[in-house]
Amino acid sequence: MVELIWDGKYDRDGRKVAPVRVALPFQDIETVNESAQQRQLTLDRLTSGRDATWRNRLIWGDKKYVLPSLLPEFAGKVDLIYIDPPFATSQDFSFDAMIPDDPETEGDQSRTFPKQASILERKAYRDTWGVAPDERSRGVTERDKYIKWFYETAILLRDLLSETGVIYVHLDWHVGHYVKCVLDDVFGEEHFRNEIVWIYGGSGRGAKAIASQFPRNHDVIFVYSKTNVVTYNTQVVERRVRTDEAHRAGYRQDDDGRWFKTAPRGDYTDESVKALDAQGRIHRTRTGGIRIKYFLRSEVGFVVEDAVVGDAWTDIPDAMHLPDAERRSYATQKPEALLRRVIQTSCNEGDLVLDCFVGSGTTAIAAEGLNRRWIAADLGRFAIHTTRKGLLSLSGVRSFVVQNLGKYERQAWQQAEFGSPEDAAEREQRYRRFILDLYRATPIDGRSWLHGMKAGRMVHVGSVDAPVTQADVRAAAAELIRTTGTGDGAPARAALDILGWEFALEVNELAKQVAAEAGVDVAFRYIPREVLEKRAVEQGDIQFFELNALSVGHRVEGRTLKLWLRDFMMSPDGVPEDVMKGVTHWSQWVDYWAVDWDYRGDTFHNQWQSYRTKKDPKLETEVNHTYDSGGSYRVLVKVIDILGNDTTAVVQVEVP
Ligand SMILES: C[S@@+](CC[C@H](N)C(=O)[O-])C[C@H]1O[C@@H](n2cnc3c(N)ncnc32)[C@H](O)[C@@H]1O
Repeated sequence: MVELIWDGKYDRDGRKVAPVRVALPFQDIETVNESAQQRQLTLDRLTSGRDATWRNRLIWGDKKYVLPSLLPEFAGKVDLIYIDPPFATSQDFSFDAMIPDDPETEGDQSRTFPKQASILERKAYRDTWGVAPDERSRGVTERDKYIKWFYETAILLRDLLSETGVIYVHLDWHVGHYVKCVLDDVFGEEHFRNEIVWIYGGSGRGAKAIASQFPRNHDVIFVYSKTNVVTYNTQVVERRVRTDEAHRAGYRQDDDGRWFKTAPRGDYTDESVKALDAQGRIHRTRTGGIRIKYFLRSEVGFVVEDAVVGDAWTDIPDAMHLPDAERRSYATQKPEALLRRVIQTSCNEGDLVLDCFVGSGTTAIAAEGLNRRWIAADLGRFAIHTTRKGLLSLSGVRSFVVQNLGKYERQAWQQAEFGSPEDAAEREQRYRRFILDLYRATPIDGRSWLHGMKAGRMVHVGSVDAPVTQADVRAAAAELIRTTGTGDGAPARAALDILGWEFALEVNELAKQVAAEAGVDVAFRYIPREVLEKRAVEQGDIQFFELNALSVGHRVEGRTLKLWLRDFMMSPDGVPEDVMKGVTHWSQWVDYWAVDWDYRGDTFHNQWQSYRTKKDPKLETEVNHTYDSGGSYRVLVKVIDILGNDTTAVVQVEVP
């Protein structure tokens, strides 16, 4: 038996190691284009715990959590999976961030800069390919790691696929041949259906392309089914050949002037050939051989053939040749035409399509346009943002929801790292010490809200499963004022760093109030998701960035609310210093903003948005909204910066 073996494929007892399957609940972080009626259904669902209607889903998360979490709901229910997994380097996560023009100055100040992968993204690569020294001494390579990672993905995807489902795995020469063996292993050789060769054109990629080998100019897409029964819709493309070139293209003309092409008789029986002959569909060669005639259409000056699409796709150029409207500044973006062909071939309207490496959103966008249901996930924050924008650019896009695993992912981590639920206080304490250590703060005991100290500032560590609230900020500030200058380890000055995974709305506004009323200098810093990852922690490259700051202006005239962006300050995470200095207007940091006119404390319901695209890089910075009825409304404004990070602000309005 021929078999591909990788490190960690079998356990000590010779059993194949199965992927971990911890199912965590998804959390809605935003709904897009939801009608009032749907919104009510969402609220009902929140209270009843049941999902009454289908909504397409865009999920921000690592496939290792997302796929097992989809299983309880979707095992055996996905009709089509397309994946274009990462396979090279952390370059797959980098993208060209665009700084737009300063709207208040002459000339064009727009520029792009390469945004390197974040720590979290780099970490995903390290987890996938990183080889520890002891492993290397055992002969383990990056390839073992990659194949193990891919195998675990493939197993979960198989479980999600329906009985008539099909999976497409898009790769190239790097690992394609190994992955084919894994797919044979997981889906069974008998379920292999195609190796599609996508020739994307051009003269080949990479510096090596012209050195000592043929230029590389194709990708491969492996197609497998779950069983022997599959959805397969034959695809045809129109081939138009000028009449004066038709003979050279192999077409022939009969005595009536009709154009045709011929093909070998293949497995047609004598009886079938007889029937075809009666229809004038048999062509006899000079040597007496029999071929089958296929008639072609004639249009003025052209012969037109509806050619069945085979497994070599040469008619779809790569993303570098896309029109501006389809370009999403994503290095690994695939053309929508490619995804449309995949989707049209292997599923029908209303069927469910899944892509857990959706990148710039191509699969979701193509599925949306073809009226399929879809679930799309990606680990990259920028990928989720790019996908959302791409979807919004479609006219008539159906409502969808943006989700993550948020606090559940963190709770699972806290339990695994710091102890069982029974010793909650102890676990909490260990968790805080761990965060303080990463923040390079010294822990202090005996206070309720102040947990550590760093460079003369006190530090509060927000809990794992709840956002830092305004009450937390007030309580920490009050304790700081009470204890300043009293006893051992007492704060020497009134300065407070609040570390949190998430922050309640308007904490920045509150900090200004606290500074004005009590003279306490409060700063908020995000605990980055990378602390969930052992390796990133071991490498000590954890950074706690300050929250972006957003200021929104508003005025109510009659029932109309006028809202405008007034100021925005972006955290410098990932922005080179020279780029930072070149930005002269705050709006250059803003890529997108959206408004929920009637925020009810549940999910952000995106009801209006303005954003920049390659084709249209201008941003509206003010908007009017007219309410149907008077009342008191909370308006939630969400700004997404040019790196995909979001910041919110709330405006309370009274409409007469
Ligand atoms: C080759 S790109 C996909 C490009 C996509 N087909 C398109 O047309 O834009 C691979 C994507 O996988 C994502 N990714 C890498 N590791 C991941 C993981 N463990 N879980 C989820 N997404 C991941 C990356 O963020 C990247 O967007």
